[in-house]
Amino acid sequence: MCGIFGYCGRRKAAPILVEGLRHLEYRGYDSFGIAVANDGITVQKKQGKISLGGADLSGIKGTMGIGHTRWATHGVPNDQNAHPHLDCPGKIAVVHNGIIENYAALKRELQDRGHTFCSETDTEVIPHLLEEAFQGDLAAAVEKVIPRLEGSYALLVVAAGCPEMVAARKRSPLVLGVGDRAFLAASDVTPILEHTERVVYLEDGDVASVSTKGIVIRQGEANVERPVQRIDWSLAEVKKGGFPHYMQKEIYEQPEVFSATIRTLRDEETPRMLEGIQGVTLVACGTSYHAALLCRYLIEEHCGIPARVELASEFKYYTLPGGDLVVGVSQSGETADTLAAIEKARMHNHPTLAITNVLGSTITRLADHTLYMRAGPEISVAATKSFIAELAVFFHLVDRLSGGKLEPALGSGHLAIGEALLQDLSPAVELCMGARSMFFVGRGPFYPLALEGALKMKEISYIHAEGYAAGEIKHGPFALLSPETPVVALCPPGPAFPAMFSNIKEMKARGTPMVVIGAGGNQELEEVSDVFIPLPGGGLVSHILASTTLLQLLAYHTAVALGRDVDQPRNLAKSVTVE
Ligand code: M6R
Repeated sequence: MCGIFGYCGRRKAAPILVEGLRHLEYRGYDSFGIAVANDGITVQKKQGKISLGGADLSGIKGTMGIGHTRWATHGVPNDQNAHPHLDCPGKIAVVHNGIIENYAALKRELQDRGHTFCSETDTEVIPHLLEEAFQGDLAAAVEKVIPRLEGSYALLVVAAGCPEMVAARKRSPLVLGVGDRAFLAASDVTPILEHTERVVYLEDGDVASVSTKGIVIRQGEANVERPVQRIDWSLAEVKKGGFPHYMQKEIYEQPEVFSATIRTLRDEETPRMLEGIQGVTLVACGTSYHAALLCRYLIEEHCGIPARVELASEFKYYTLPGGDLVVGVSQSGETADTLAAIEKARMHNHPTLAITNVLGSTITRLADHTLYMRAGPEISVAATKSFIAELAVFFHLVDRLSGGKLEPALGSGHLAIGEALLQDLSPAVELCMGARSMFFVGRGPFYPLALEGALKMKEISYIHAEGYAAGEIKHGPFALLSPETPVVALCPPGPAFPAMFSNIKEMKARGTPMVVIGAGGNQELEEVSDVFIPLPGGGLVSHILASTTLLQLLAYHTAVALGRDVDQPRNLAKSVTVE
């Protein structure tokens, strides 16, 4: 949530900052702004997306600056609330990702001492506190101010006439880039890739002073060394590569993502902590939660291990089951609720495992052990290839723990995804795009997929869509069925088929338009469907992967047909770093 980016080098900073912010816009796109430091501070900021224009960069001189793209928390999206924020004389500029929880008290205190505020944001207290603390050494001023800040922050600060940019973090991500005569700081690596592959991940409590001479990191009183790491994502991966949207590109990358994740995990040892586990609790949010729900079916059936799945945001209200391995699943590795769940598990001495896509992300530093999915950078706000990669990790684990029960299917999963990519979904899109409300239903492992299909549809097309266990729909939602309420039903071959087929007929009897995804060749099933989508693949694993892909494409093409902003849907942000 919110993206921050800083540059310190020998080139003109303003265009570099704006370009960097474009890469970070998926973290929030309510407004954007930059501040360039020279003898003074020059600020440009604007409500709306960068692509809408409005940043006049002509004449902004200076080779060091900071920028921000906002997902509003305190105050509406407008020019005043856009970052950077300044102190009273306009000599210190700050960009911030996170939430300052005690800002109201600090603001009152500062106003009582005569400070004037220009925005409704929590962030603005920081430049005013710095104004009081600054005596020529910017890093020292930041060190003095941060103990006063409660909550979470990744901060970048510049001051007029000061040769350094200062970076600090607590429970919000911040990474530094080590380039050739240029240093960078950002919420994640995507804007850094343009400049360098060498990065340093800051730890909570670090204050880094970044100048053209290099980086000095302090933690409390002491200087500390943080390792320089090499990112294995490429610049091409963060570009659209000829696709109209990142989401479509990312869906089309799925065959390779699935294979790459399986391939890499095969070469790794199974984490020791999985040996002889008695029970597992999976915690996650959104799409990652759906992947975890699906995993539960497989782990209990094939491995005989009791599995529990919890929404990370609710986990804090539950008592932990004794002895369980707690697994946090998070594409970004930065989701606040999932991090809090892992912290709670650790506090209660549970072993913890992270499943994530992002090297160096906060979850990797909290959990005892990390398994990486190999999805590459996912830019579209809607999670697609990361869901497939999460499934790949789970399939792999279930396979290892069950003594190879899924193995034959894992080598060919990519083929089923590839076949699904070739399907023409236009009749289904036509049926869905006129709907105001829809249901997605499934049974067994296809129930979490129904939840995921509905989430994809609602978040990018803005059609109200609910995922339901097919057997539950008669217990209330049936009242909503009508010829205006299409239902997408997942009906693959398998033990749930007869019950699912009956459910489809019951819904059809209420005049409900039915989009059915099932294996071809069953005439009765095809006849009861208004639109029948043949499901490629044979066997559970490939049916799961192909169904996922079809549901993603259905949401994508429906959203495109409705003219939605597919990659940056309204009100959302990619990485939810606040509770
Ligand atoms: O990065 P995470 O996997 O922890 O993100 C969790 C959710 O915010 C995320 O899956 C969200 O639901 C998707 N972007 C929706 O497509």
